[in-house]
Amino acid sequence: MAKSGVFVCGVATVLFGFLWFNPVPAEGAVRQYQFDVSLSACTHSLGLLISVHIRLIDMSIHSWWFQVQVKNVSRLCHAKPIVTVNGRFPGPTIYAREGDRVLINVSNHAQYNMSIHWHGLKQYRNGWADGPAYITQCPIQTGSSYVYAFNVTGQRGTLWWHAHILWLRATVYGAIVIMPKQGTPFPFPRPEREEIILLGEWWHADVEEVVKQGNNLGLPPNMSDAHTINGKPGPLFPCSEKHTFAMEVEQGKTYLLRIINSALNDELFFAIAGHNVTVVEIDAVYTKPFTTQALIIAPGQTTNVLVRANQLPGRYFMAVRPFIDVPIPVDNKTATAILQYKGIPNTVIPTLPQLPAPNDSALVLSYNKKLRSLNSPKYPANIPLKVDRHLFYTVGLGMNSCPTCVNGTRLTASLNNISFVMPQIGLLQAHYFKTKGVFRTDFPDRPPTPFNYTGAPLTANLGTAKGTRLSKIAFNSTVELVLQDTNLLTVESHPFHLHGYNFFVVGTGIGNFNPAKDPAKYNLVDPPERNTVGVPTAGWTAIRFTANNPGVWFLHCHLELHTGWGLKTALVVEDGPGSDQTVLPPPKNLPPC
Ligand code: C2O
Repeated sequence: MAKSGVFVCGVATVLFGFLWFNPVPAEGAVRQYQFDVSLSACTHSLGLLISVHIRLIDMSIHSWWFQVQVKNVSRLCHAKPIVTVNGRFPGPTIYAREGDRVLINVSNHAQYNMSIHWHGLKQYRNGWADGPAYITQCPIQTGSSYVYAFNVTGQRGTLWWHAHILWLRATVYGAIVIMPKQGTPFPFPRPEREEIILLGEWWHADVEEVVKQGNNLGLPPNMSDAHTINGKPGPLFPCSEKHTFAMEVEQGKTYLLRIINSALNDELFFAIAGHNVTVVEIDAVYTKPFTTQALIIAPGQTTNVLVRANQLPGRYFMAVRPFIDVPIPVDNKTATAILQYKGIPNTVIPTLPQLPAPNDSALVLSYNKKLRSLNSPKYPANIPLKVDRHLFYTVGLGMNSCPTCVNGTRLTASLNNISFVMPQIGLLQAHYFKTKGVFRTDFPDRPPTPFNYTGAPLTANLGTAKGTRLSKIAFNSTVELVLQDTNLLTVESHPFHLHGYNFFVVGTGIGNFNPAKDPAKYNLVDPPERNTVGVPTAGWTAIRFTANNPGVWFLHCHLELHTGWGLKTALVVEDGPGSDQTVLPPPKNLPPC
């Protein structure tokens, strides 16, 4: 026993020496334990994927090596170079268990300086591993590496990772699966098997070129040419027969689908022909189960569903198409994958599900109303009942002057009429080292001038203020943030994501938020808990959370188009009084700007 312990430690030390050129803070402790090491290495056509899993007494350390590299990939009859992780598209899945520690060494071999975000991971005190470029770190430069090191605490379920700079997440994304602690079952029937369903968008052209072109014109860039399921558009697209995701099922068995919307700009409907699905989890939080024919999922969100293979053995399409309830052009093409019963030949033509109408807002509202936290003794919903700080942010589009743009104007977006300006260094560093002049903490708690937010469209005086302005939040204070859509140019729905936290969606409605009446209708019992929430078209959404995670946390619309236009800000959550309530010191290998 002791002997093998010594032997295994030797192997592990060598591996660490090989993988981690730079010291990883807080890793010293690792070697004081006895552990088993398993090493898995496999070569792919264009890259080497190495993952190391070390099991401690009841905590494992998972190490991954992410090589960011360009690879030629062909879709829709065209090949083009795309940025990938380990040459894979979509990228590898990160598996961990609640309570584990995860180390990911990202080596950047692409021509873009970049960073990766672990979307939905709370990163307690540890914004250094969060990943949004210029918010919590400077990007990893071409030819350099950075080790993201974090604990997975108090979370289990489906999350995902993606590049967090430019529009690189169009191809740089993958799933994160957090299994419950050993011996802890799911609060729903054990599925036969599980499958990851990553929904995405594909452009014929180089995405960064498309975006550049849009920015030069001051207009939205060209929309995507296809949607994808696990990187594949499915047989309704040309040359895509071989680019079709299929999943085999056996009649009578139940499967867990971990569905992730990794699209850049499209909220999506998802349905399976002939099969209902039962929603059991959203954004890595269990829900009260409910059964539905179709589901709606916004960029950034995840939804776990159970599907029972209870139909006549056959081939059934899973299909994905956008939800859009305003007259804005959108890539409205349907991506498909196949649910294939065992033993059915590939010559059988699958049936298509009936997807909701693309503009069915009523269905979306009623679907979202069905989402409820499980709120069981084991998985309680700790909703802040008293609010220390009330924030009210308007969400809107705008137009700023741009002499070189086509119309002499540039489309923009803002929160409380402020279009966020990206800093030159990471905000978390500026906060931690008290560097002056990088950002201001005077982001207003409400809009400068109240108006009829969702009345007739406003088309004049659409200029926005610009600034790197943040909101300072006292440690452990309870916060309510109401996000209000506005009719500047047009109303539109916006999925908002807050880094570093889950929040409770206590209320939502159409029209203008009424502070005198609407709070009385809040759900303070079992509201959905999540990290990304849709603000409905011409409506509002109220979220609550306890600001117990110190650091600088990005808050933004998860439509890449709007993020790029400035629909973002960040919250500076102050340190608490305790020594375990402060932002951790930065890792030594934090990328320089
Ligand atoms: Cu999924 Cu700030 O992002």
